[in-house]
Amino acid sequence: MKGMFISFEGIDGAGKSTHVEGLAQAFRACGRTVTLTREPGGTPLAERLRTLVLNEPMDAMTEALLVFAARRDHLQQLIEPALARGDVVLCDRFTDATFAYQGGGRGFDLDMLRVLEGWVQALPGTTALRQPELTIWFDLDPAIAAQRLAGARVPDKFEAQPVEFFRRVADGYGQRLAGNPARFARIDAAQSREAVWQDVLAAVRQRGWLA
Ligand code: TYD
Repeated sequence: MKGMFISFEGIDGAGKSTHVEGLAQAFRACGRTVTLTREPGGTPLAERLRTLVLNEPMDAMTEALLVFAARRDHLQQLIEPALARGDVVLCDRFTDATFAYQGGGRGFDLDMLRVLEGWVQALPGTTALRQPELTIWFDLDPAIAAQRLAGARVPDKFEAQPVEFFRRVADGYGQRLAGNPARFARIDAAQSREAVWQDVLAAVRQRGWLA
């Protein structure tokens, strides 16, 4: 079977996590082997970088470099081998999050992010980049997301940001979608959990991937 790479995106509080898990179960029920992973993280080294990025104050360039360093390790150690085996790789966040959070949220130079993306995700012997075949974007009004997050847990560095930060993050996702509409499925995450799940399934089935 051919490997398949799907990423999940959205601002904090958009509610993607349960659906990532649900989709993993759906693929397994169809007999597929699923590699379920996340960014920043997914390998021992990348998880250590995640702890730094989510907890330590740092300038935006340092943050972007650490996130891409984590991504490089994740691709080399986990994602590429899994795709080569024919797994379904479900990744909770990928490079769109860097464009949304470091680019949109923190205002870091998008051209520099594109350079880093080009280096880190280069596929040897081609001019193509490793990208998800499908990115499911849980799009939610930042004001609603803030209500959902309030009191839920101790916020990390990003979750503690004001709602204006998340408006810029959401705009960042919107720009990535505009640049590559075919890769994205944008889902209205303000709906009931069941309605969101039906949209997730529809996005995957539309591509002929789940019976
Ligand atoms: P998240 O995926 O929401 O995990 P959890 O549900 O455990 O909180 O947290 C990851 C955070 O990292 C989120 O706030 C977005 C941020 N992030 C970036 O800033 N840049 C990136 O490139 C990635 C992948 C994540």
